[in-house]
Parts: sequence; structure tokens; C-alpha cells
Amino acid sequence: MQSIHIQPLQKPFNIVIDNIASDKSISHRCAMFSLLSNQPSKIKNYLTAEDTLNTLSIVEQLGAKITREGSSVTIVPPENLCEPKDILDCGNSGTAMRLFCGFLSSIEGSFVLTGDKYLNQRPMNRVAKPLRSIGAFIDGREDGNKAPIFIKGASLESFTYESPVDSAQVKSAMILAALRAKGPSKYKENELTRDHTERMLKGMGANVSTNSDGYIEIQPLQEALKPLDITVPTDPSSGFFFAVAAAIVPKSQVTIKNVTLNPTRIEAYKVLQRMGADVEFIQHENVYEPIGDIIVKHNKLEGVTVSENISWLIDELPALSIAMSNAKGKSVVKNAKELRVKESDRIKSVVNNLDLCGIKYNEFEDGYEVFGSKLTKAKIDSNGDHRIAMSFAIGGLLCGMDINDTDCILTSFPNFENILEQLKQ
Ligand code: S3P
Repeated sequence: MQSIHIQPLQKPFNIVIDNIASDKSISHRCAMFSLLSNQPSKIKNYLTAEDTLNTLSIVEQLGAKITREGSSVTIVPPENLCEPKDILDCGNSGTAMRLFCGFLSSIEGSFVLTGDKYLNQRPMNRVAKPLRSIGAFIDGREDGNKAPIFIKGASLESFTYESPVDSAQVKSAMILAALRAKGPSKYKENELTRDHTERMLKGMGANVSTNSDGYIEIQPLQEALKPLDITVPTDPSSGFFFAVAAAIVPKSQVTIKNVTLNPTRIEAYKVLQRMGADVEFIQHENVYEPIGDIIVKHNKLEGVTVSENISWLIDELPALSIAMSNAKGKSVVKNAKELRVKESDRIKSVVNNLDLCGIKYNEFEDGYEVFGSKLTKAKIDSNGDHRIAMSFAIGGLLCGMDINDTDCILTSFPNFENILEQLKQ
């Protein structure tokens, strides 16, 4: 098991970073959606991390021919998807497993989706139940709630579904199922979640539209979609670790290059701005998504309450907790019970590790409050969760930190430690 030992930074940094990991959500979708075309898709800056490489392998097992030169990937879809000869391993990725549930439930053949010990504990009923209700044959441990998941392709009914959970993974699974259903389908969520699926499928020519009543309407595919020709932008969730670093290290500044500025992804940067950090968004293109640079400069931080648009910053809350620990006064996170079913129970992982760092907190079922003071060096347990490991590594820039079980960083951000090193130069 790997570990990281962080030394406190001795001086401020001012750095432009153009090699932060590519967007994980978009990379998964690029690989999967390429199977909806009958021509080769060309993807530049594909995220070459464990989660998205697993998705690429699954796409290959389904019959695609893949050529990879560094992070450039060409995917030639098969004429007909084939039944894989082996199980499909999603590793640590909830996105891969849940989206493939929707994608595969109408494909002829039998499929077994499995994952690592963490993923196989995460709830799958949120996709299994609505998919079953439209005719999917999907089962697994605990009545289909836990992987390994077994799917036998079936013919799917059209549907109108209001999701009880605001989750882009559930939404995407249902949209993918709807593309092969017998008629038009409608999907509604309470609060808009990340909308990469809708944007990318529309760009590929699918008939997916969001109505004024909040329903997403999906027409079944009449023909193969256009292939993708895309450069995956930088992942704002990965960039956010360095945004927090700049916000908490006095006199520091970071520029994160070519990042998606999709509003459903940059809310955490806006919270950092509300806390007092200087944050600037500079858009320079729009390909499926607005893309540009984000500049973050240190300033004194004040406590903040985060209780709205939670799905827009759910992945950044662990890193934000480091900024909150360093802010003046109390910060509160509410309505975030989804944190309990992420790569770890992130409410427990955050507060237990903050406690080890000498930070006072109160834990709630759906969040926590943190009383800002001074982080102190501790031995952190990542609980196998990449975002916990990286968040506390950033905290360590102020006081030093020993972090255990850091192999998980490879799931999303393999060069994280190299960039951390660059801050010292
Ligand atoms: C993701 C959706 C979110 C997010 C995850 C990636 C996606 O999960 O936390 O890291 O790519 O669709 P939920 O759908 O469970 O909220």
C-alpha cells in the first residue's frame, strides 16, 4: 500500500498548470457513447487513469477496436456489439457501473458488471429499480442493489420517470436506456445535475431536449449517431485541489488551464470566491461545453454555508473542507447525504480526518459543520478514497501530513504528486 508524506511549503507559489487530469465524467462518456456511432470516434486528452481505462477495456470487450497513442484514443465501434467472454470490471467507478447498467440493459446478450471492494458496496438500486420497471432484466447481490450485477438484454418500454435522487449517473443510465426504448421517454430530476450526457448526445445528433417543465425528453435512436471528435477538457474537480492550495497558502496563485466551465461543475470555485478567495473564470471556447482557464489567488477566508446545488459541488466537498478548516469562523455543509455513498462515506472520512488534524466539527446525517482554526499534522487514512487522500495532501502544504493508502489517487489523477512537487519550485 502506497503512502504520501507531505512537507509544509516554505514559500508561496504562482503557477500555471496545464497538465491536470482530463475530465473523468466526460472521458467515461466519450468511450461509451462512441459505441452509439458506426464510424470511428477521435478523442484527444482522454483521461488515462484507472477508472476511465477500465471503461475503455469494457468498450473493447463489447467489440470496439481501440488504438491509443498516449492520451489520444481512436475507437472504431463494432457493427454489432458482442456478448463479452468475461466479466466487465468497472474497478472503483460508480459512473462506469451505473451508466453501463443503462447502456447494456437493451443489448442482446448477458453481462456481468463487477468492481473493487469499495464499488461492490455502493448502492445500485437507484438504477436497477427504474430500469427493471421498464422491462430490464437486472439482478445482483442483495436483490440487485450490490455488484456483481447481472444483466440480460431485454426490450425496454418507454417511460416517464421522476428520480427521487439527484444523480447524473442515474439520469445518464436512464437516458441511455431511453435511446433504445420502444417510444419517447421523459426523465425529471429535482435539481439539474451535471449535464454532459445531454450535451454530448445532442452534439452527436440524438434527439434529447429539456422542456420548460423540467422534463428531459428522449426520442429512441432511428439511426447511428455521428462519431465524436473531441478534446476532453481538464477536470475541474481535479483542478480544485490546487485551487484550494492557492486559496490557503498566503500570497499564492494558480491558473488552471483549459478546464470545463460547465456551470454544473464549477460551483465549488464559486463557494471559494464567496469565502473570500480571488477567483476569475476566463472562457475561450465552447465545444460541447464552455471551456477556459480559472485563476485562484489567496485571500483571507471566511466561513461559509453550503446547502444548495449540492450535486454541482458534491465531488469537491472534501477539498472544500480543507479551505473551511482554514477559514475564520464556522462553515456548514447541509443537504449532502449523497456524500455517504461515494467512494467512501465522505462525511465520516472528512470529519474523522479533520478531527485527527485538531479541527472541531459536528457531524450530521446530511453533512457537517467545521470550526476554522489551524490544521495540524496527522496520519490520515484515505479509506481508499482518492478525493480524501488528495484533499488532506493539500492541507499538508500548511502543516505537513502523512497519508496512508494513496494508491486510490491513480483512479482519477495519476500525476497529482508530480504537480504537488511543482508547487515547491
Ligand atoms: C458523476 C456523477 C456524480 C459524481 C461522480 C461522477 C458522473 O455522481 O459524484 O463523481 O460522471 O455522472 P452521482 O450521479 O452519484 O451524483
